[in-house]
Amino acid sequence: MDAVPWVRIFASMIPFSPPRIDDKVVKAVEEALRSGWITTGPRVKEFERRIAEYCGAPKVIALNSWTNAAELALRWYGIGPGDEVIVPAYTYCATANIVMHVGAKPVMVDVLDDFTIDPDAVRKALTVRTKCIIPVDIGGLPARVHDIVRIATEACHLFTPKVNLRVAGSNPQMRLGRALVLADAAHSFGARIKGARVGMQADITGYSFHAVKNLTTAEGGALAFNLPEPFDHEEVYAYFNTLSLHGQSKDALAKLQPGAWRYDVAMPGFKCNMTDIQAAIGLVEMERYESETQPRRRAICERYHKAFEGDARFIRPLLADETREGSHHLYMLRVSGASEEQRDAIIAAIAKRGVSVNVHFIPLPLLSFYKGQGHQISAYPKAQALYTNEISLPVFYDLTDKQVDEVVKAVKRSVAEVMGA
Ligand SMILES: Cc1ncc(COP(=O)(O)O)c(C=O)c1O
Repeated sequence: MDAVPWVRIFASMIPFSPPRIDDKVVKAVEEALRSGWITTGPRVKEFERRIAEYCGAPKVIALNSWTNAAELALRWYGIGPGDEVIVPAYTYCATANIVMHVGAKPVMVDVLDDFTIDPDAVRKALTVRTKCIIPVDIGGLPARVHDIVRIATEACHLFTPKVNLRVAGSNPQMRLGRALVLADAAHSFGARIKGARVGMQADITGYSFHAVKNLTTAEGGALAFNLPEPFDHEEVYAYFNTLSLHGQSKDALAKLQPGAWRYDVAMPGFKCNMTDIQAAIGLVEMERYESETQPRRRAICERYHKAFEGDARFIRPLLADETREGSHHLYMLRVSGASEEQRDAIIAAIAKRGVSVNVHFIPLPLLSFYKGQGHQISAYPKAQALYTNEISLPVFYDLTDKQVDEVVKAVKRSVAEVMGA
């Protein structure tokens, strides 16, 4: 198969995380295209079913990104102006941007040494205005989601439900009676907490299938619903389906039935459905996720782990502990004692050696928009410290052991060059 142009351009570099696009994926996409059904159709429905089965969640909806999917969840819960949503200061901007989109206020809290949200900080940040908490599974290591659900439940006396008139026949805030826990599992598809896959702990869990993610559909996302009684997951799914398609009472599949052309619009919905072309990629990815993708990513991370073991210049990321097993999405290495300038110089030196690395993430209070909103990094010392010396190393299915060793060599030499040790 002919290499795509960017692969040729960067042929001499070890890339950071290209997707695994092989003949199987190309064939699946071709079949979807030739099937005549290229928007939301049977492949999306099958993809949703497979994700639900894999994660163990009662119901899943596949949409066009984590961002739009998670924003729909905030809207379904009736979150808007005057409400607060607790997010970690250390995350990708999407986590907080969706809160801004619905007109609510992101309340930032600090993280722990493993990059995930600090449950104690969440407890302290809860107010009568808190309508949602978004723990983020950074790098694929799950946040302490059980603790967050417990904290939200214990603080139910603070919760003041608002009537969401848009949700016909039900009121999610009244039904749940506490802050919604919406897990940002953009990085952690397939990770586990206490043996159960991510998706089984929070009320709603959002996955991302963006091109760099462990499992991709080029762009895409999904929500796994795991709401407590008395929620009816079929009803919730139907609502999200409608909300993701302009509020139309029938989707394209339903309208295909002979004579069934008439539809209504119950609310001014959004347009963020997944296409069958995307789902075709996702179905191939899903089929080999557990047998090929996960073992290879784990092997790569473990090879890095071994290579940096016992070297005091490095702080290795936590890949797993007694209750959590990450998805090996990112290998977030830290350079002991490096300043931000030194870290940046190390990255430049690594790039000169032909290796692409990255930084996950610039904490939200350091970004112009959020800084302009009055968020100050000094309030999140852990986030700042983690960011200062973090370097994410390449992890992707086709990365060979030899390339992993080259990355390690490039990192060690670059650190020696910049730090003088
Ligand atoms: C932590 C986190 N949350 C959310 C997102 C947004 O995902 P998507 O691009 O599917 O909207 C990303 C994307 O990289 C992410 O890293």
